[in-house]
Amino acid sequence: MLNGKKIVLGVTGGIAAYKAAELTRALIKEGAQVKVIMTKSAGEFISPLTFQTLSGDMVYTDMFVPTAKYDMAHITLAEFADVFVIAPATGNIIGKIASGVADDLLSTTIMATDKPTLICPAMNDKMLANPVVQDNIDKLKKYGYAVMDSTFGELACKTSGSGRLPEASAIVEEIAALLTPKDLTGERILVTAGPTEEPLDPVRFITNLSSGKMGYALARVARWRGAQVTLITGPTDLSLPPGIEVVQIRTAQEMYEAVLEHFKKSTIIIKAAAVADFRPASLAKEKIKKSNQSFSLMLERNPDIISEISKNKGNRILVGFAMETQNLLANAQDKLKRKKMDFIVANNLREEGAGFQTDTNIITIIDSSGNVEALPKMTKIDAAVKILDRIKDTTRRKGKRKK
Ligand code: PMT
Repeated sequence: MLNGKKIVLGVTGGIAAYKAAELTRALIKEGAQVKVIMTKSAGEFISPLTFQTLSGDMVYTDMFVPTAKYDMAHITLAEFADVFVIAPATGNIIGKIASGVADDLLSTTIMATDKPTLICPAMNDKMLANPVVQDNIDKLKKYGYAVMDSTFGELACKTSGSGRLPEASAIVEEIAALLTPKDLTGERILVTAGPTEEPLDPVRFITNLSSGKMGYALARVARWRGAQVTLITGPTDLSLPPGIEVVQIRTAQEMYEAVLEHFKKSTIIIKAAAVADFRPASLAKEKIKKSNQSFSLMLERNPDIISEISKNKGNRILVGFAMETQNLLANAQDKLKRKKMDFIVANNLREEGAGFQTDTNIITIIDSSGNVEALPKMTKIDAAVKILDRIKDTTRRKGKRKK
């Protein structure tokens, strides 16, 4: 996700400084190169050695340390970075940046950079609510800094309130968004993801193996690229992606109703969900008791959501998926035509690294003119990038976008 990205992480002096260690680790795991600047008070909470070990690089703490090679750290760090992140950001550093104060390495480097900068405030709830701090945050936003909302919960001072540093995964997500060019701004993208569950009694249901990873990757990348995203999701273990309108459903019928409600305001619809084609014809009120007899279950058809919306699709772009175990191309081409999609993304469950639950997929994109693009194995995030690239080309060709 952040492969090869150069990140300068500023750590300031708050109790959440220890969480910056977890963030450093998460960034490195995502393939980023991380250099850490610590303020003097951050050093009271956590040792530079922690960051040196996790980042595999020296930690910058002082403007005026003589080194063997002469360089001005604030300038070289400002130039090195693709993105700056300050986590946790105290009221003090927020105030200094907002007022143009540069009196240590971190504040001076921030003043010297024109790179995107994400500021993650974390402090006591009363300090955060202080109008001076709020004014300073507004000022930072006005100057073009990205400021992440702190989260609500238990604080170090034993109270509950706003002021917690968001989880490392949420900060990583925000960094990815900040680094992604906004070429889908103006689009409203509806994504479906995950499985559906079709209950037969209060404790049993029919479902499939979809984890939601493919659909969530599409929703996340679409948001990073500037689209307004609605994600209609079946039950999954994934955490809900930030910055996205999420509608949680259980059954195919509920997904059908949610799609119908949201599709009119959408310009693009991507159906990555694995929807049950059939549901039990009746739902038992009580748990079905076993008997010695064999048991047969009567099923009835669920609505075919994609076929339904393709009837009123207008100028919208409709992208479906085909999950196959044999005759990938022929079956996908048949679905593309029958369900009147703009293109279909085919994946073969028999291929290793493709389909359900994996972090990777092997996709073939087939468009309505018969063009076939078979792509190699890649992460679901990269597959989402490819699919959205194709959507962007299609919107351009349809003349929907001005650019
Ligand atoms: O969630 P993951 O674990 O990451 O796995 C990803 C995936 C394998 C689920 C995904 O890549 C995928 O292939 N999704 C579509 C699965 C599917 O239901 O395929 P299908 O060939 O049965 O359906 C074709 C298309 O019609 C799909 O876009 C489907 O969303 C849609 N459909 C199907 C049935 C139905 N009643 N209504 C629909 O709209």
